[in-house]
Amino acid sequence: MADTDNIKDGKDFGIGVPPAKQAFFLKGMDHADWGLKDRMARIFNKTSGNTVMLAFDHGYIMGPTSGLERIDLSIVPLIPYADCLMCTRGALRAMVPPDSGKPVCLRSSAGSTILTELNDECILDIQDILRVNASAAAVMVSIGGKFEALTIRNLTTMCDLGYRYGVPVMGVTAVGKEMTRDARYFSMASRVCAENGASIVKTYFCEGFEKVAACCPVPIVIAGGKKVPEAEALEFAYQAIQSGANGVDMGRNVFQSDAPAAMIQAIRAVVHQGAKPKDAFDLFNTLKNQK
Ligand code: R5P
Repeated sequence: MADTDNIKDGKDFGIGVPPAKQAFFLKGMDHADWGLKDRMARIFNKTSGNTVMLAFDHGYIMGPTSGLERIDLSIVPLIPYADCLMCTRGALRAMVPPDSGKPVCLRSSAGSTILTELNDECILDIQDILRVNASAAAVMVSIGGKFEALTIRNLTTMCDLGYRYGVPVMGVTAVGKEMTRDARYFSMASRVCAENGASIVKTYFCEGFEKVAACCPVPIVIAGGKKVPEAEALEFAYQAIQSGANGVDMGRNVFQSDAPAAMIQAIRAVVHQGAKPKDAFDLFNTLKNQK
């Protein structure tokens, strides 16, 4: 048989031959499109499967909150230690150097501030999300809250646009004062985000977090919440990772720390190397005391 016969049969191109089963390294992504996987692979580390997102989008609802008065001074020096930057387009354009080389999870919903009622939000234009080359779009979702339907609509609309252009959407589970912060609630909130198309879910650590992670078919990252002592934050980050979280999306517990650079490096040790909380806290103290 001549070589050209092979080509004609398609054998050289593997036509009719089932491709090797190649699972993507992140859960729930096997059937996603190439662009979406590419963006996810920029956010999550392929070796650990996890990410350290540095969250500094708080100004969109809080204004210049403690630690974020001067993003150029407090956050920019931390950028080298982050796997992904989670911020607003305003902070990104005004203060983040475009040659940082870090993927961006862009805050893509906005509306009310802490002065009124939170979560009455709309979403950003997908063209602007693409213009800043964001690797993901973050949309607030308020399950059980007054704006539940509106925020779920925001999520589904952004997921439709995200699928069209290959941009993963991160569902950000809001917690109202009236919500019980337990595994039952966070399992439901996370699952609703994933079922509606989110490729990443941001939620909170709680007792019984294994259930939250196990019932969510896409990667979960946990927010840090209000500032607590460093040892405590490292402890819950460790528990979350060991219980199935794929990383953190942490803000105040990093940038409000006495030693933010030491804290983010200690968090990295927990997230990427599975460092025990005590070892991570020792690392924090060592780095903090270094000149
Ligand atoms: C809140 O406005 C944002 O979604 C934050 O990005 C999120 O809460 C994570 O930041 P923190 O660790 O400070 O809770």
